[in-house]
Amino acid sequence: MNNEFKQYQDLERVLVTREEIAAKVKELGRRINADYQGKSPVVVCILKGAVIFFADLLRELDLPLDIDFMAISSYGSSTKSTGVVKLVKDLDRDVNGRDVLVVEDIVDSGMTLSYIKSELLHRGASSVRIATLLDKPARRRVNLEVEYSCFNIPDAFVVGYGLDYDEKYRNLPDVGILHPRIYTK
Ligand code: IMP
Ligand code: MG
Repeated sequence: MNNEFKQYQDLERVLVTREEIAAKVKELGRRINADYQGKSPVVVCILKGAVIFFADLLRELDLPLDIDFMAISSYGSSTKSTGVVKLVKDLDRDVNGRDVLVVEDIVDSGMTLSYIKSELLHRGASSVRIATLLDKPARRRVNLEVEYSCFNIPDAFVVGYGLDYDEKYRNLPDVGILHPRIYTK
């Protein structure tokens, strides 16, 4: 495989390259800048998977924004969603009256984000929008509006650019399909 990291040997193939990601993140930044003109949103990173996307996207945003972090667990070390959502780390600040932009790595069943969205609206956020790097529309189990999405992908388990399998592969600069031999014993 055309890459320098040894962990690329565990991929079936690269699905989205770092160059494609960089171009989309720039384009998304421009859309968000236009949509949030005159506003000062709280941009919330959903830990840990969104960290790299978040760091790249933030640097495209020409807005007087705040950042905050939230951690949710729903997966354990398997590749299939449990559907059970648990708040592991809450925001540091109140979002009452604020425009919130939630930044996530991937929307799969949609359970995690629909929980987060309703929780933030319940706390009095003026608006809650979602920005995701990846979307697997074929796996959606709840009705969820995703305002900003970079890439629709097929129903495959992917890693890299923040996304993990059992906490590994987050550091890969590209997004790739994990070879099933890694998780089928
Ligand atoms: P949802 O609640 O089913 O939408 O699950 C969303 C979460 O599941 C994401 O934030 C990821 O942490 C995880 N996830 C879903 N699909 C993948 C994948 O293909 N690779 C890595 N993590 C994934
Ligand atoms: Mg996640």
